[in-house]
Amino acid sequence: MQDIARTVAVLATGGTIAGTAARATDNIGYSAAQLGVRALVDAVPALAEVPLVTEQVAQLDSKDMDFAVWEALAARVAHHLAKPDVAGVVITHGTDTLEETAYLLQRLLAPTKPVVMCAAMRPATALLRDGPQNLLDAVTLARQPGARGVMAALSGTVHSAFDVRKVHSYRVDAFGSGDAGVLARIEEGEVRRLREWPAGEPLGLELAGRTDWPWVEIVTSHAGARPDGVRALAAAGVRGLVVAGTGNGSLHHALEDALVEAQKAGVTVWRSTRCLDGPVQMKPGDRLPSAGTLTPVQARIELMLQLMRA
Ligand code: SIN
Repeated sequence: MQDIARTVAVLATGGTIAGTAARATDNIGYSAAQLGVRALVDAVPALAEVPLVTEQVAQLDSKDMDFAVWEALAARVAHHLAKPDVAGVVITHGTDTLEETAYLLQRLLAPTKPVVMCAAMRPATALLRDGPQNLLDAVTLARQPGARGVMAALSGTVHSAFDVRKVHSYRVDAFGSGDAGVLARIEEGEVRRLREWPAGEPLGLELAGRTDWPWVEIVTSHAGARPDGVRALAAAGVRGLVVAGTGNGSLHHALEDALVEAQKAGVTVWRSTRCLDGPVQMKPGDRLPSAGTLTPVQARIELMLQLMRA
């Protein structure tokens, strides 16, 4: 009974879940980030029974996510998690960069309570909107006894922040967990856990007021790749480069030479893969280190965090 009384903090940042279109049949020509957090919550009658605190942390299309919003969001998540009566936090977010925010928050905070990312592929005005069910599921997961870590609850599926990735540009069931597989399912308000909750140690890095987010870019290896882009980035002062290589992180020779030059000039260079799943495994003779199992966007965040701590 005590758990049922525990509060969930719902922090809104925008996205399609808060988007509106002129016609209910329009699933792509909408404006993201139009409705406030109260409207999202009020669209789910079952949430009237749940003690919630709501906060509008930002209101943006997540393609425009930036460091200032990340700083504010990390601070607000930490603030709410520290309250003894708060069971967990739900973050409404756009689907496009959800995996980046999830990975960042997990690495920064490694929360011992659940922090659940929630989004939608259809705007709030759509005939078949997915936002309300996803929000209800996210709140259910945020109140799940024993749950911990940053996760995403989408289409009845729970993904770990370490694994979640957007794998489809249109389908409602648009997220996957790659090789690792999904963390849990939410069925009729019941959480069916399939593997361990995400865990780790908080980095202990203070983001508030930072003006020194290191400049890290992602470049891609492909047919006809040229060295010029990497050289221009290095000359312009980039601090880190993540290269999305082919297969096991292999690189077009022209690009690899430029990346090795950049590395010698002090730029940190990591190799990841364009493949949707799988690690980059090091082998004798490799000239650039592997980003392991991190996707290119995760590797970029990890590299920024490591450069900030250096
Ligand atoms: C966004 O990422 O903010 C827009 C797209 C979406 O939420 O599906």
